[in-house]
Amino acid sequence: MTHRVAVLPGDGVGPEVVAEARKAVDALGLAVAWTELPWGSAYYRENGRMMPEDALDTLRGHDALLLGAVGHPSVPDHIALWGTILEIRQGLDLWANLRPCRLLPGIPSSLEGRGPEDVDFLVVRENTEGEYAGVGGRSHEGHDSEVALETSVFTRAGVRRVVRYAFELAASRRGTLTSATKSNASRFGYVLWDEVVEETAAEFDGVRIERVLVDALAARMVRDPGSLDVVVASNLFGDILTDIAAAIQGGMGMAASANLAPGSDTIGVFEPVHGSAPDIAGQGIANPSGAIWSASLMLEHLGEAEAAGALMRALEAVCAEGPRTRDVGGEATTAEVGDAVADAVSALR
Ligand code: NAI
Ligand code: MG
Repeated sequence: MTHRVAVLPGDGVGPEVVAEARKAVDALGLAVAWTELPWGSAYYRENGRMMPEDALDTLRGHDALLLGAVGHPSVPDHIALWGTILEIRQGLDLWANLRPCRLLPGIPSSLEGRGPEDVDFLVVRENTEGEYAGVGGRSHEGHDSEVALETSVFTRAGVRRVVRYAFELAASRRGTLTSATKSNASRFGYVLWDEVVEETAAEFDGVRIERVLVDALAARMVRDPGSLDVVVASNLFGDILTDIAAAIQGGMGMAASANLAPGSDTIGVFEPVHGSAPDIAGQGIANPSGAIWSASLMLEHLGEAEAAGALMRALEAVCAEGPRTRDVGGEATTAEVGDAVADAVSALR
């Protein structure tokens, strides 16, 4: 069976890292039909929108989407993100964002004295509602009386599905689920979240649940990452916590993610956690590891567990032995790392 994979390289370093992820997948010799989508900021400058109107239908005709990053200084960030990734997540109802945080051997952590044995947790971020529901508005624009409202939306069904999924993942790992909210200061949405967590806990005897305030969790992630197994958090908190997590696992270039609607046949969207990194774009020095790791998550989702494992082992071997890009202590280019992973894949086959 041929996997139909859409590719949205996007802006900045997006195309640079996605090219290496494709190279590594191609080295596996699977039947993959790639469809490249020219959407993003250049498309916006020509067409006045980031993606065509029927973009979601186009995506539905594929088995997965591999995405680089979007965002360019010439387009306001909220237009770029709401015109692509946020529209895709919400429009396809991809309600679970999985972000594995593992420090791979050979990669320096920004936490001194911490090694791979200290850093292995998984963040499950709610991906369609909460603080990024897109509900709000502005009035009296330009006047001193101008008002901007940004409303968080938490639904019982929306919280329950992501919390239950996180419990299932915790049950399949080391059995601890940490739920992050801020239900002392925000009295409605996060309190509902906490209640749903307590209710769902009754269904999972084998999982130890802890409710932690997000500020305390941010500190603990740095102080004692080894105490974490699965973390479940709202859209905003998951976003912020996973940049901390990325730093712990070697930097933005290392972090991978999967946007999923578990239990449905909706396509999954796989992307490195980082953005378009305009500060290093065009130099050929971006770290492709997060994109390659995301491609491994994609293969797993496509039912290619063996290939996904092989790709991950190849990436781990290259991280351990080099070449590495400069953000993780090496001097290699993006393409040199991608070539090395592709070679390691071929050697494993
Ligand atoms: P960023 O993740 O692009 O960059 C943050 C820092 O990490 C920069 O110093 C950058 O050089 C470094 N970095 C990022 N990716 C790297 C890689 N692969 N290898 C080595 N270093 C890497 O975040 P920033 O600067 O806040 O945002 C830049 C643009 O990206 C903005 O337009 C933003 O809206 C957009 N963005 C898009 C996302 C997406 O498409 N999913 C996610 C986050 C930001
Ligand atoms: Mg982010």
